[in-house]
Order: sequence, then structure tokens, then C-alpha cells
Amino acid sequence: MPEGASAGAVGSGGTGMASGVPDARAAVEAACRAADGRRAALRAWSVEDLRGLARRRLPRAIFETFDGGAEDESTLRDNREAFARRRLMPRVLVDVARVDPSTRLLGAPSALPIAVAPTGAAGFGRHGADVMIARAAAHAGIPYTLSTSATASIEQVADQAGGRLWFQAYIVKDRSFTFRLIERARVAGYEAVMITVDLPVGGKRERDFRNDMSIPFRYTPRNLLDFATHPVWSLNMLARGVPVMENLRGIAPAATTAKGIVSTAGRNYDPSFDWDGLRAVRDAWPRTLIVKGIVRPDDAVRALELGVDAIVVSNHGGRQLDGGIATLDALPGVLRAVAGRASVLVDGGVRRGADVVKALAMGADGVLVGRATLYGACAAGQAGALRALEILRDEVERTMRLCGAPTVAAITADLLADGLPPPPLR
Ligand SMILES: Cc1cc2nc3c(=O)[nH]c(=O)nc-3n(C[C@H](O)[C@H](O)[C@H](O)COP(=O)(O)O)c2cc1C
Repeated sequence: MPEGASAGAVGSGGTGMASGVPDARAAVEAACRAADGRRAALRAWSVEDLRGLARRRLPRAIFETFDGGAEDESTLRDNREAFARRRLMPRVLVDVARVDPSTRLLGAPSALPIAVAPTGAAGFGRHGADVMIARAAAHAGIPYTLSTSATASIEQVADQAGGRLWFQAYIVKDRSFTFRLIERARVAGYEAVMITVDLPVGGKRERDFRNDMSIPFRYTPRNLLDFATHPVWSLNMLARGVPVMENLRGIAPAATTAKGIVSTAGRNYDPSFDWDGLRAVRDAWPRTLIVKGIVRPDDAVRALELGVDAIVVSNHGGRQLDGGIATLDALPGVLRAVAGRASVLVDGGVRRGADVVKALAMGADGVLVGRATLYGACAAGQAGALRALEILRDEVERTMRLCGAPTVAAITADLLADGLPPPPLR
């Protein structure tokens, strides 16, 4: 949905559900606040705990559209398993009384080797989720990427969040529309534009079909029951209205059927976007340019030749091409091809601090996290997104200590066990 159905402008901002007596609305909002699980999120000890809280709070159709991947979800699973296949060889007897996980990402300081990945449609999980996640990132001292398909506008996030901001641009068929978005990001002070290149067409996300998930929502018996059994979420939507993809206002016809999800994506994203198109973006954007969605060494080299500053090795969190390579498996080839000439980040399946350390030991400059902060925001708003980042920070620091690596510079390739048999799959 977020990159598929999400391609459409979503409704008009009203729900058609709320009839709006102000007192009733205030009461509903108070009930939602009281029941929103904030306390529970602060007792979450892992990203997986936050995922569980998000699952309980969200209707199945919404949770699964965030959680799921394409087709058989083999790439979604393999992203995680690729981390499990790598094992660490900790150094001992190193003074780790102090550890410092700070680094430089794309030429500027970051408190952690982590940035937040763009996740469209976050507001369908919780009203205001984009700003909440952006504020959590600013608070944690790491960059945040706003999606084209966000439910907050470019300017709103710049005004309300602060911190280091990157803007992720999809290339839609009306290219001038995308260039206007990029210009708005420049005026609003975003330091980087990220072009996502793995979505010429929406992936086939079958969970969305099975759940009657589309934007705008279709009220089928299945999802009415789903919404009715998740009253906190439903009352919130009732009180505050269904969110809108603010940056896509006016561009896309909405999907009206579940099958329309994929075709809506197809109607809006520009499948003819190619290297010449990327060159035009490079010419138009004077600041840092990131390309996200590269897994091949030859594509990485072509991107570098066009003057791209950073590459994100990504398969869209397993949501696009099923059967595609796990990002951690693709990372070494891209790193060899880039050979230090640009920053290389990786995303897909990062759920633990040890995952971050493994990616760095393999040579990545940092990682992006998508679902981790999204689960947190769905579970408990800004506090939940921040909790996700706190958990990751704690785990990164702990892993660095346990590995005898007091600084990011000390996270080197020798920390990885080579040639051990993979652990059995559970
Ligand atoms: C709900 C959801 C929405 C997403 N929306 C976008 C998007 O709008 N633009 C984009 O480039 N990637 C999008 N992605 C992909 C993420 O940026 C990122 O590549 C992926 O989530 C990383 O995997 P992880 O979720 O396992 O961390 C989305 C991912 C999810 C889960």
C-alpha cells in the first residue's frame, strides 16, 4: 500500500465517518490517548516487542501492509536470514569502559551509524506518525528521510521536526511534478535527495489483496470487522479523519479496488525513468544525491559516473522484487565496485544492534531502518519511535563493547567469522 495504493492522493482529508460534535470528539481523543499503549512501549525490550505492540493496536489490513513483502516474501525473510548467517568474532581484553557509536553519515555527524528510511503512508498507522518519527530521529541525533508518499508535507516536517532531513523522491509520470517536489525540498532546507530506483511498478503484495486493503479504504465486511475489533485505531481515524498523502495531492487517481493497488502504482510511477532521467535529477539538485535500491556492482558504478554521492543497497525491505538478493549479500559486490568513491549504506531487516555492527564490519558506512521506527510509532507515537532508536542504540553500544570495538572505526572486517557454516534456520 504505501508505495502502491499510496501512490494515490488519499481521500480529501475527511473520513466521511466523523459527524463531529466537538465534545464527543474531545472525549474520543482523550480515550485514544489513554489507551494508546505508551507505557507498554516503554517496556518494550526489542524491536520485535514493538512490532508485537503495533500488531495488537492496528487492524490486520494496516499492520500487514506495513509488515509484509511481495509475493512469497522470500526476499523479505532472506534479508533477516542474511544477518543471521553472519557471525561475529569478538575481540577480548579491550578497554571498552567508554564506547562511542557516533560517526559521519554523508559528510555530517550522526549520533549513530543509522538513518531512518522513508516509509510512506505512516499516518495510516497513527495520525502524525511522520512528524513523530522525524522528531524521534532528531532527538536521537540521526538523519530522517521523508517519503514522497508521506502523510505529512515536506514543509510540515521541516517546520515541526528539525534535525537532519533527507527527502526521498519517486519519479512520477509527470516529471515536472517530481522536480517541483525536489525544489520544495531545497527551499525547505533538506540536505539530501534520495531517488528510489527499485519501483518502476508496485510489488505484488498479496496480503493487501487478501485483506481488501486499498486507499481510500473500501468498507467490505472483512475490513469493517477488522476495524471494529481495533477500536483505538478506529476511534482515532473517526476523530481525526483519514490521512492524506500530502506531497501527492492532486496527482493520482485513487485505487478503488484491491487489484487496483498495483495498477495505481503503475499509473503513477514512471517506468520509463532511466539513467538519463537520473542525470537530469543530478543536474537539478545541487546538494547530496542518494540513490536507493541498487544491488548490482555495475549499477553502482553507473550511478557514481553520474555524480551520485551515496548509494543505499536496498531491495525496498522485500516489498518489490520477490526472489531478489538479500541486501547484505549484495553489499560486498557494491562496496568493491564503489571502492570508497561514495558513501554506501544498506537497509532491509535491521532489527538488532548486532545487525548494524555486522553491516559496518562488512564495510557499509551505515544502515537505514524502516519498519523498526514505524512499528514504534504505531505502537506509541513519538515515544515508541524513540524507544525503537533507544533500543537500537543500546544494542549497538552493547555489541561494540562485547566485540572489543570502542569506536565505529574499530568495527572492522576481522570481527566477522569467515567460512563458518550458517546457523540452522528456525
Ligand atoms: C510501510 C513501508 C513503506 C515504505 N515506503 C517507502 C517509500 O515511500 N519510499 C521508499 O523509497 N521506500 C519505502 N519503503 C522501503 C524502506 O525505505 C526501506 O527500504 C525498508 O523498509 C528497509 O527494510 P526494513 O523495513 O526491514 O528496515 C517502505 C517500507 C515500508 C515497510
